Amino acid sequence: MAITGIKGFNDILPGEVEKWQHIEATARRVFELYGLSEIRIPIMEKTELFCRSIGDATDIVEKEMYSFEDKGGNKVTLRPEGTASVMRAYVEHKMHALDPVARLYYMGPMFRYERPQKGRYRQFHQIGAEITGVAAPTVDAQVLTMLTHFFQELGLTEPSLQINSLGCPCCRPAYREALKKFLLDRIDKLCDDCKRRYDTNPLRALDCKSAGCQEATKGAPSMLDHLCPECGDHFDKTRKYLELVGTPYSINPRMVRGLDYYTRTTFEMVTTMLGSQSAVAAGGRYDGLISEIGGPQIPGIGFAMGVERVALLLAEKDFSRRPDLFIAALGDEAHSEAFRLMSALQRLGLAVEIDYEGKSLKSQMRRADKFSSRFTLIIGGDELARGTAPLKNMDVGNQAEVALDAASIHAAMNAGA
Ligand code: HAM
Repeated sequence: MAITGIKGFNDILPGEVEKWQHIEATARRVFELYGLSEIRIPIMEKTELFCRSIGDATDIVEKEMYSFEDKGGNKVTLRPEGTASVMRAYVEHKMHALDPVARLYYMGPMFRYERPQKGRYRQFHQIGAEITGVAAPTVDAQVLTMLTHFFQELGLTEPSLQINSLGCPCCRPAYREALKKFLLDRIDKLCDDCKRRYDTNPLRALDCKSAGCQEATKGAPSMLDHLCPECGDHFDKTRKYLELVGTPYSINPRMVRGLDYYTRTTFEMVTTMLGSQSAVAAGGRYDGLISEIGGPQIPGIGFAMGVERVALLLAEKDFSRRPDLFIAALGDEAHSEAFRLMSALQRLGLAVEIDYEGKSLKSQMRRADKFSSRFTLIIGGDELARGTAPLKNMDVGNQAEVALDAASIHAAMNAGA
């Protein structure tokens, strides 16, 4: 029996991969306009890094990590996200010593043992961005504007931006207590998960999808009403800067993120088009994370988008590539000439196809049709004798006789033939 891939681990095949390349190229282009540089981080880290940064009481660390002991007995984990690794690299390489401000982006696979469904996989891909060293709300607005700009460049009107503030270690504990007090009377309605994390992570009940939790949290106190003056001011200024540059957003006071490192601004890009997997991108500020993993007290903010989910939103668009030219040849000599011209034209920067086996003209034309090349050139004995052949523009249908040398064909194609 043939061996199949692992459940939740997908192949991205030609046809689909062009869409991914377009998403990645757009991210690079837009992020670099905002001064970001790429960082490449390993796929595996010490398990401890994720426990300490993401938080022991989160779903990711409790039940979703691919953790194991390697042959040397080291506890390692396939990265479930990128922020912890990027910050580990930032601290390890003392990037802050030169300049605390680092503006970084990354892309690649992440691993979470979740129940696979549309838009949710066990190996999935993120494109993420992280900016360290600036506590000012201009950076929050800049990051959110960059993310919005990226989706606009892709031509997507969905998803839309929702923001919230989760406060800081100064104001969140009092809010937690207020929320716990509110939930205590309704604890029977909470789902088993939220009952279990009532003490460790009560905020999760606010964005839990179970009907009981939604019922129980109706009218619950809001973090936004409990922000300390500094966090309140930060949130107001972030909104002001977003409005100043025309970045649309709405406030979702129930947004709680599934990772513990967030402080102040949190956000999600949400869509109604992917069922329950509504977050296409998500992130927030993490002003305590760098010191939590052993670095200096330096603030940070960032996000990651799920590439599979972005690709699903782009489902209708066609990114397939067309070759520039298909050369059909009749007879051995013409076949050699087609092969020679193909090679010369590829060196001039054109995507050219021939039929490798020199089949019948009919089957060659079928192949040209399948490739949907922009131009076709047909070479037979007569053409070889004349030293010219008909070059046809397949989009407009006009045809021109061109000399059988690469430069002439190239020029004729540029001129539209
Ligand atoms: P996250 O919300 O866990 O945040 O994931 C970010 C995005 O990754 C989600 O909005 C979603 O699009 C995608 N995603 C997550 N899990 C899956 C999955 N199983 N299958 C498909 N897509 C998925 C983070 O990972 C943070 N590191 C984001 C961040 C960066 N915060 C600050 N900086």
